[in-house]
Amino acid sequence: MTVATSALRVATFLSLGLAAAAAGQTEASAGADQARDPAVAAVNPTPYTPAAEKRGRTHYLRHCQICHGFDGRALENIDFEATDLTDPERWRFGTSDGDLFRSTKFGAGLDMPPFEADLDDEEIWDLVHYLRSIGPKELRPKTSTEGTPHIQEN
Ligand code: HEC
Repeated sequence: MTVATSALRVATFLSLGLAAAAAGQTEASAGADQARDPAVAAVNPTPYTPAAEKRGRTHYLRHCQICHGFDGRALENIDFEATDLTDPERWRFGTSDGDLFRSTKFGAGLDMPPFEADLDDEEIWDLVHYLRSIGPKELRPKTSTEGTPHIQEN
């Protein structure tokens, strides 16, 4: 990567971070309450299909990779601790489908911005399928289309 590209990336990253921080100021406390919203299904209501996973991947690449990295491992931002999304053992805000949904929709911790305004619920559930597909093998969705959409945790 050239110096110019990396400077650009840092600049883009910083402005995103600032926007997120600004949004976070007013929403941090509300977000914490919503984060426990019991109305969110614990299990992904969208049945797994390869097409759903693919749509989720598109959303991921557009909205998430800048912080969480191309492969979800967040190794690219050495001075910023975005969570490794391939490793549920490191997650702090729960490991169910519903927890992933909530963290994405309402934000998580101080630095994970809410995506409520950018992604509708169906898009977020597609993203959850994608996140499962890059996670540990035993938790990956079954690639069958026969209605056993995915493996439940806990
Ligand atoms: C501006 C950078 C940024 C972007 C963009 C971003 N994240 Fe995050 N995300 C973070 C950070 C930082 C954390 C860690 C928050 C903490 O632990 O306090 C995080 C945490 C999370 C968590 C919670 C993990 C846990 O510990 O339980 C999930 C799930 C998540 N992100 C998913 C996503 C998804 C899906 C997208 C895209 C729609 C996304 N993130 C986009 C920075 C970002």
